[in-house]
Amino acid sequence: MKTQVSPSILSADFGKLNEEVASVEAFCDRLHIDVMDGHFVPNISFGAPVYKWIKSKVPLDVHLMIEHPWKFFDDFIKAGASTLTIHEEVFGDGEYEGGLPAALREIGDAGILAGVSIKPGTSVEKIADVLDLVDQILVMTVEPGFGGQDFMPDMVDKIKKLRAMGFEKNISVDGGINSETGRICVEAGANILVAGSYIFGADDRKAAIESLAI
Ligand code: DX5
Ligand code: ZN
Repeated sequence: MKTQVSPSILSADFGKLNEEVASVEAFCDRLHIDVMDGHFVPNISFGAPVYKWIKSKVPLDVHLMIEHPWKFFDDFIKAGASTLTIHEEVFGDGEYEGGLPAALREIGDAGILAGVSIKPGTSVEKIADVLDLVDQILVMTVEPGFGGQDFMPDMVDKIKKLRAMGFEKNISVDGGINSETGRICVEAGANILVAGSYIFGADDRKAAIESLAI
């Protein structure tokens, strides 16, 4: 499986977002869009009204770090999402009938890719019964909320476990990814590397992306 690189625009300069996108899109496979609500994670980023202005030829993977994500599925899809990734942890209150499986089916039925993400404290067993409903699993390798944090090596076993469970589609990792931690994740079975500060903080963004695409 070829390794794909997905720059996280959370580390980009939002004042010139399309210039920032243009600086990476020729070299990357997809873009990672972090939507945060200040409730599910202790930070607020942006939503569909902002990322709908992104002009890009590569697919937009939208990572929803928000409570009640289903309320906004239509908006997120209309704004150009190619993948909607929701967190397993937001379904505890039973507010969405059918829970996580039903929400993933709703995303898939809308004609885009469905993804599920797990925070560091969530085991892969929690998503064992939705593996056949998802196109992409996003393993968080930091506590979600902020860019620039240190990679958590203990998360690597989750990637291995998911492959051992027979999951053959995309496994993406997010948080603290650089050429060194990225390689560890790829060797464990990940095929999409999300990186924010490593790419947008680099003097040579093309070289940073190429160092991940091993
Ligand atoms: C963190 C976000 C990440 C973030 C990664 O909650 O989900 O996508 O942008 O940033 P780095 O690569 O700097 O750790
Ligand atoms: Zn993310």
